[in-house]
Amino acid sequence: MNTLWSSRIQTAEMLYQSRALRFSDAFAPLYRPALRLDGAREVLEIGCGPGALAQALARWYPNARVRGVDRDSGFIAFAREKAPQIEFTEGDALALPYADATFDAVISNTVSEHVEPSGFFGEQMRVLKPGGACLVLAARRGLKKRAPCLAEETPFEAALWEKAGARVSEADKARGVGAYAMDEGALPQTMEAYGFRKVTSVYVSLNFTPDNPDCPRETALAIFENDRRNDLDATDLLLNEAGDLVTADEVAEMKRLINARYDRRVGLYEAGLRQWDTTVTLTQIIRGTKP
Ligand SMILES: C[S@@+](CC[C@H](N)C(=O)[O-])C[C@H]1O[C@@H](n2cnc3c(N)ncnc32)[C@H](O)[C@@H]1O
Repeated sequence: MNTLWSSRIQTAEMLYQSRALRFSDAFAPLYRPALRLDGAREVLEIGCGPGALAQALARWYPNARVRGVDRDSGFIAFAREKAPQIEFTEGDALALPYADATFDAVISNTVSEHVEPSGFFGEQMRVLKPGGACLVLAARRGLKKRAPCLAEETPFEAALWEKAGARVSEADKARGVGAYAMDEGALPQTMEAYGFRKVTSVYVSLNFTPDNPDCPRETALAIFENDRRNDLDATDLLLNEAGDLVTADEVAEMKRLINARYDRRVGLYEAGLRQWDTTVTLTQIIRGTKP
């Protein structure tokens, strides 16, 4: 039973909401030419977390058998409940529980930066069939412009973050989160060094601007809820990591303030008062094939 990631680093609900938005069907026309998975029958998502990408792949490639593997039991239980039709397995990327040459494609999203590369790519090479594709998705620096009402942190919140915030990043660092991060050039170079051929690097950019007239209301509300969940979860992590510096009452008050801000943002949206907050994501998709 390993729930380190889901209990200490990112919750299943938060990751699922964020990825369900990023891998929604509206963006399939952007992802499909970049992924080039048509024709793949056996597909494995490594470090699948709560399973939103695996679910998207199963929708976009109905002829493929998509499976997911992750080390975190909490994520696997969550993924199984959300999508019982997909096989999700608890397992380590460094010792994948599959036979050699099983898959036509293996894919991961924001995982390569956390796993030692020789084992990570070595295992993917082993489970791929000759000619199979290894796809690595990495989040790159995008853009975030908060609405004025969401950017208003109170002195009370600023003081708590100042006092205890460093603990969260120190704890993540100690657990090896992001220990193997590579830049836009080093990642494709590393895949070539581990034997992948025909390596390509492309980018998919997504624009989440709720006030745009062509942004559906459902998507706008999902953007607000995703950001709200992110901010609320951050306060829980603060309490988990720095329970000696912050109290449960202080965290409850932080959550009340966060909820009030997001309620206000939703109210402004519903009243048609535009705020022009924007999140632009940039995902690098590196694809290589096993010789
Ligand atoms: C940033 S999360 C991304 C999760 C998912 N790909 C997504 O985009 O929602 C990193 C994931 O990698 C998983 N992970 C980290 N090291 C792993 C390992 N050695 N084997 C399997 N999974 C691992 C974590 O449990 C976590 O689910």
